[in-house]
Amino acid sequence: MSHLNACQQFLQWALPRLRLRPEGYRKVRRQVCRKIQARIAELNLSGYEAYRRYLESHPAEWQELDKLSRITISRFFRDYQSWEMLAGEILPLQAKHAGAEKRPVRCWSAGCASGEEPYSLALLWRYHFESEYPGQSIEIIATDIDGHMLQRASLACYPGGNVRDVPKHLLAQYFRKEDGLFCLDQKIKNMVTFQQQDIRIAMPDGPFDIVFCKNLVAMYFAKGNALDCFREITERLVNGGFLLTGNHEPFPHEDLQHMTVFNRGLNIFRKKSP
Ligand SMILES: C[S@@+](CC[C@H](N)C(=O)[O-])C[C@H]1O[C@@H](n2cnc3c(N)ncnc32)[C@H](O)[C@@H]1O
Repeated sequence: MSHLNACQQFLQWALPRLRLRPEGYRKVRRQVCRKIQARIAELNLSGYEAYRRYLESHPAEWQELDKLSRITISRFFRDYQSWEMLAGEILPLQAKHAGAEKRPVRCWSAGCASGEEPYSLALLWRYHFESEYPGQSIEIIATDIDGHMLQRASLACYPGGNVRDVPKHLLAQYFRKEDGLFCLDQKIKNMVTFQQQDIRIAMPDGPFDIVFCKNLVAMYFAKGNALDCFREITERLVNGGFLLTGNHEPFPHEDLQHMTVFNRGLNIFRKKSP
């Protein structure tokens, strides 16, 4: 059996035991398999079958496998059309709503990787909204389970691939080039508060106007686990608040009675108002 087939069979067995969804890993399987292969070598084991037995006799190893199964790919303004929708419709609606209640627009980026998503929002607000909504502020909270990713978020220097979708004028105004990396302006960095959290165990307090939960829960978590998370997230949304998921994720909105589809193609959902 080829290495990749053996790995695929192993993942079919192991991921559901971590309450993860094997189908979500179709495009990133090679990446996860490479990490597991390195772990097998580190433990001096003969292959996937031996690693399976090792997991069965060393329960603490499941935590290690959980870490190896995390995908941390991100980039600024990923799913660009969703950002256009956010700028054209969602942020104006929520800014008006928050303004009427004399409070900041409150946003949460769940599974924020090294900050690309929350910083994209900060850039959008700073450039397009700050002057249009004088006196209106925004609060952006970003969480991730991985402390290493959060350290990279606080450095906020990125290779070219991560900033390839940043509009030219924003790139020129808010990034400076340092040792071949694009480093974000301190004023934009200051707009985001990061917290290390496992979304399966803890979430920041709401209520939020907008939650980004992209390329994490719906993509990688097993259905029951995903539903539990989305129920908690829904509770943290204001009435009429928005949930943005990744463009290619299976979002279980039929099972979430308080959520409606706002844009089907872009996988954007909205909490019903009573
Ligand atoms: C594929 S990245 C998505 C980043 C960004 N949301 C995007 O769409 O570009 C998934 C992120 O979720 C984080 N993550 C994985 N499991 C998590 C968990 N249980 N709780 C919080 N974050 C988690 C990973 O560390 C990773 O940074």
